[in-house]
Amino acid sequence: MKYIINTQNKKATIDKNIYGHFSEHLGRCIYEGLYVGEDSQIDNIDGIRTDVLDALKEMKLPVLRWPGGCFADEYHWKDGIGPNENRKKMINTHWGGVVEDNSFGTHEFMRLCELIGCEPYINGNVGSGTVQEMSEWMEYLTFDGLSPMAQLREENGHKEPWKVKYFGVGNENWGCGGNMRPEYYADLYRRFQTYVRNYGDNKVFKIACGPNVDDYNWTEVLMKNAGQFMDGLTMHYYTMPNDDWANKGSATEFDEATYYLTIKKTLRMEELVTKHSAIMDKYDPDKRIALMVDEWGSWYNVEEGTNPGFLYQQNTMRDAIIAGINLNIFNKHADRVRMANIAQLVNVLQAVILTEGDKMILTPTYHVFKMYSEHMDNTLLDSYIAAEEVGTDENKIPSVTESASMNEEGQVVITLCNTDLAEEKNITTELVGFTPAKVTGEVVTGTMSAHNTFEAPTTVVVEEAKAAIVDGTVKVTLPPCSVARIIVNA
Ligand code: AHR
Repeated sequence: MKYIINTQNKKATIDKNIYGHFSEHLGRCIYEGLYVGEDSQIDNIDGIRTDVLDALKEMKLPVLRWPGGCFADEYHWKDGIGPNENRKKMINTHWGGVVEDNSFGTHEFMRLCELIGCEPYINGNVGSGTVQEMSEWMEYLTFDGLSPMAQLREENGHKEPWKVKYFGVGNENWGCGGNMRPEYYADLYRRFQTYVRNYGDNKVFKIACGPNVDDYNWTEVLMKNAGQFMDGLTMHYYTMPNDDWANKGSATEFDEATYYLTIKKTLRMEELVTKHSAIMDKYDPDKRIALMVDEWGSWYNVEEGTNPGFLYQQNTMRDAIIAGINLNIFNKHADRVRMANIAQLVNVLQAVILTEGDKMILTPTYHVFKMYSEHMDNTLLDSYIAAEEVGTDENKIPSVTESASMNEEGQVVITLCNTDLAEEKNITTELVGFTPAKVTGEVVTGTMSAHNTFEAPTTVVVEEAKAAIVDGTVKVTLPPCSVARIIVNA
C-alpha cells in the first residue's frame, strides 16, 4: 500500500490538548479511580492515588476537564470547599443516585492537575447555577489581592491564586444542562460569560456549549449570536454499536459485523468535524474560535453486575482502533480542532485506566494515547494513503487511517491504524523532501476483543513495530487490528 507524506507541505500545529481527557463525578471516576482520600490504605499524595498519577504523567496528559458533564450543571462549587466535615452532601441525580459528599472539590482538583502537570479545564454551571456563582468561582480561583473570594480561598489554605485558562459556560445545555433552545442558550451564554473575568494576567479561554452530534442549527445559531464572545465551541459525539440506549452493545462480546459497524460509526467523526467547521468558517474565517470535541469515545452496556448509572465498561482492541482513528481525524483538522477530551479518564466509558481496590490496569486505549503523545505540538504534514476498503457488505471502511507530523527536532511522527481484522498491511512510505536515515516504531495489536483484566493485565501491551528503510522509503508492516506509531529521523 502506497503512503505519501509531503514534508514540505506543513500545515497547522497539532495542539497538545487534542490529547485531553475528561473526569466527571460519575461512578468510580473521581472517587476510587483518582481520589481515595488521605486516610486510604492505597498509596496516595494528598488523597490522589499514586499509581494512577504515575500512569497519567507517563501518558503526558495535557488538559483535564472537570467536574462534568451533566454533573457540572448541578454542581455548586461552594459545597466542595472548606473543612470536609462541613461540606454539603448531595444526591448525584444523573449518575446512580448516590450520595456525593463533596470531599473532592476545587482544591483537590487543582492539586490533581498540579501533580499531573496538566492544565485544568473547569466547566461552570448554567443549568441550575447563577451568574454570581459562576463569577465568584473564577474570582476564588484566580484573583490575587483583597476580595471576598480571595479571602475565602486563603481561609481554606490556599493564599496564592491558581491559573485557570479553560472555562466552560455550561454543558450540553440542549439536554441535561437545561433543555434549552439554541437562541435562548446563546443569550444566556452572552450574559454568563460577561462575568467570567480576567484577573491579573489570568486570561480566560471562554468555551460555549456546542452541538450534539449533527445539530448543525445549534452551531449556526451559536456562531451567529454569540461567536464574538467565545474562544471555543464544544461538540459531543459518542460511538455506540446500537443506537438503542437500552442496549448499546457489549464492550467485549461482539462479532466481526458489529466490529465493522462500530468502526464505521466512529469514522463519522470526520464528517461531523468537517461540517461543523464549515459553519464556523462562515462566521470565523480566520479560525480564531476552536472546535473542542470535549466528549467523545465508545459507549457500551455497563459490565454485568455493575451499577448502570456508573457507566463502567471494559476496553478492547476495538477501542484502541476507535482511539487511533479519532486522534488521526483530530490531527488532520488541527487548524480548527484545538482540544478534544475523551470520556472519561478512569473507570467510566472509554477509560485509559481501570481500577479495582488497590489494583490498576492500563487499557489498550491508554497505550494508543501514550504512543500518539509524540504528535503533541508538532506541525501537521500533508499526507495521503491509498487504502483499499475492508469490512462487510453493509459496512465498508478504509483498511488504514493515518496522520503525520514533524517535531521541533525534524523527526517525522506517523500514526497508523489497520482496521482490517484478517490481513496485515505492508505500507511503503514515500517522504517527499526528506531522506530517511533511521526508523523506530511501536504497535499495539490483538484480536478485536483482546483486553486487559486485573487477572491478566498485560494481554495487550506495546510491542516493537516492524519498520525498515528500503530504497529511500519507509516500509511498515501492520498486523491485523493494530495501531502503530513510527518515528523517522533524517
Ligand atoms: O460522559 C457521560 C455523559 O455524557 C456526560 O455527563 C454528558 O455530558 C454526556 O451526555
